[in-house]
Amino acid sequence: MSIKIVVLPGDGIGPEVSNAAQLVLDTISSKFNLNIQMEEKLMGGVSIDQHGVALTDETLADCINAKAVLLGAVGGPKWDNPNAKIRPEQGLLTLRKEMGLFANLRPIKVHPQLHDASPLKNNLLNDVDILVVRELTGGIYFGKPSERIISQNGTLSAVDSMIYNDFEIKRIVELACKLSENRKSSVTSVDKANVLESSRLWRQIANNVFDVHPNIKSNHILVDAAAMHLISQPAKFDVIVTSNLFGDILTDEASVLTGSMGNLPSASIGKNGPGLYEPIHGSAPDIAGKGIANPIGMILSTALLLRYSLDQEKAAMSIEKAVNLALEDGCRTVDLNDQKSLSTQEMTNEIIMRLESINI
Ligand code: IPM
Ligand code: MG
Repeated sequence: MSIKIVVLPGDGIGPEVSNAAQLVLDTISSKFNLNIQMEEKLMGGVSIDQHGVALTDETLADCINAKAVLLGAVGGPKWDNPNAKIRPEQGLLTLRKEMGLFANLRPIKVHPQLHDASPLKNNLLNDVDILVVRELTGGIYFGKPSERIISQNGTLSAVDSMIYNDFEIKRIVELACKLSENRKSSVTSVDKANVLESSRLWRQIANNVFDVHPNIKSNHILVDAAAMHLISQPAKFDVIVTSNLFGDILTDEASVLTGSMGNLPSASIGKNGPGLYEPIHGSAPDIAGKGIANPIGMILSTALLLRYSLDQEKAAMSIEKAVNLALEDGCRTVDLNDQKSLSTQEMTNEIIMRLESINI
């Protein structure tokens, strides 16, 4: 039986890095005899151009019926009109919601040989190994109302609503606790409970979960302080659990620790059913089409796909090892070294060459 994976290359550099990921998955498929079948579909701006919507019902159904979904990136200046009713990002948000992907796992590891690629002092980067567990189907991304209002005196206003239900908070904090058990058993919950009611509920429910996990070292910090600690003492964190918006912001910030946003993968998972795997970077329209994008975030996302959706831990570890070996051997894309850099294709080849000869 074959394993069906839907690939949504999307916009900008999405197709370039997706291509890299597909080559890696092909290699894994033959190496581990997995019979992975990949099928490309349109999502994002390219789907708006072709079908008038960012995600068609057919593509959504294909994703729901697949074993897993691999996504490049969505969005770009072409579709960035602030008054546009149809936006590429809607496709991604609908996909996350409809597939029930309430948890977005974003591992942040600093490769020792990439210390110099980060603007932070080297000594701060030792032993950084963080897992951000971002809530993905609630909060201000999905709260209603979310609209423009014109009052009678002509004032134009806009409202977005940050809403969290107890069950949404409970399941994400429970997952963070569970994941921390295979790590350092330490969970930091990040909120803005000194100002926001939704954060006060978050903290209360998180405490209920922590109470039944006395073995886990837990604490709460406010998001502004978390933003500071992430760059002043990043090695202190183990698992961070937080809301949709705070997780989005903090992971872009944390990516700087690793030398480039292009390095970071993510896994979006639900209770059961297929997961969605994507790098945390965007469509990078400034470098799209040049063949220079860093494929590592996307390639490491395929490792997460193998780990969480296919239960192929050895295959996942092989990919992670191949990436590490390539970095150890000095292979760099331009975001990591603008002196002597490899193209997306060359970097991918270097990783695949090492992957082929790894035995785990
Ligand atoms: C991310 C992205 C998305 C988000 C955008 C593209 C909607 O920034 O996955 O981090 O905000 O979730
Ligand atoms: Mg983001």
